Amino acid sequence: MIQKKEPKKIPKHVGIIMDGNRRWAKERNLPRREGHAKGYAKLKIVPDWFFSRGVEVVSVYAFSVENWDRERDEINFLMKLVKRGLTDEFDNFYQRGYRLLFSGRINELPGDLPELCYATAIKTKDNNRGILNICLNYGGRAELVDAFKKMIAKKVTIDQVHEGMIRKYLYHEEIGDPDIIVRTSGEQRLSGFQLWQAAYSELLFIKKFWPDFEKTDTDFILQLDDGKINPKITKLWSNLPTNNRRIRLEVVYLKL
Ligand code: FPP
Repeated sequence: MIQKKEPKKIPKHVGIIMDGNRRWAKERNLPRREGHAKGYAKLKIVPDWFFSRGVEVVSVYAFSVENWDRERDEINFLMKLVKRGLTDEFDNFYQRGYRLLFSGRINELPGDLPELCYATAIKTKDNNRGILNICLNYGGRAELVDAFKKMIAKKVTIDQVHEGMIRKYLYHEEIGDPDIIVRTSGEQRLSGFQLWQAAYSELLFIKKFWPDFEKTDTDFILQLDDGKINPKITKLWSNLPTNNRRIRLEVVYLKL
């Protein structure tokens, strides 16, 4: 009997912790801002690589609530990049057909960034190539604090509280949970990224800096998810003990 080939299972939602911009610059004796500029340039094209493979949502960690602790000129540069993306270079995102959403304490961003974010979300709302959810002034705990505050303001009662209901108070419950979360740079932690949503996400830690992320990394990430592992990888897997997929994924990737 001819076995029917299983259709490819592409993750619907991929989360990316874009880490390692400064180390990328340091390795090259460049100022930090060069690393961020390169990281920003990557952010403009990477979602396309995922959308063209059938991914519907890409969530990226662009600026955390803890990032305000950085030096003033670094923060200013990052905010300038965000502004540039939403003004002078907005067309780049628009023409690619991205629908832009923002998750985080957007109201607390400096200058006219809050208005720009809201206006961008409205301007791109009918774009249908894929959703780029930019986590900006974001923290997973902050998101839960904000959700609980909204619930209290709405006078929610104890018997109304359940998981599905809490979810409705998150920044963008409609985009669902990331199926897989990828962090570049080799750090192995979530740093507050999508805390609630990450409960069942696969985790993958890639030992390369965000500015070095390439199209082949996208292919690798998506291959992992549909279980179509190349024979070289399968062999490595079989040598590895335990059920710890996170560790296996990392070892596999580093040895490729
Ligand atoms: C992490 O690397 C990266 C960031 C904190 C900033 C990421 C932001 C961008 C790529 C640009 C954002 C632009 C828009 C339009 C949303 P790091 O600085 O922590 O580097 P390190 O881990 O080497 O210290």
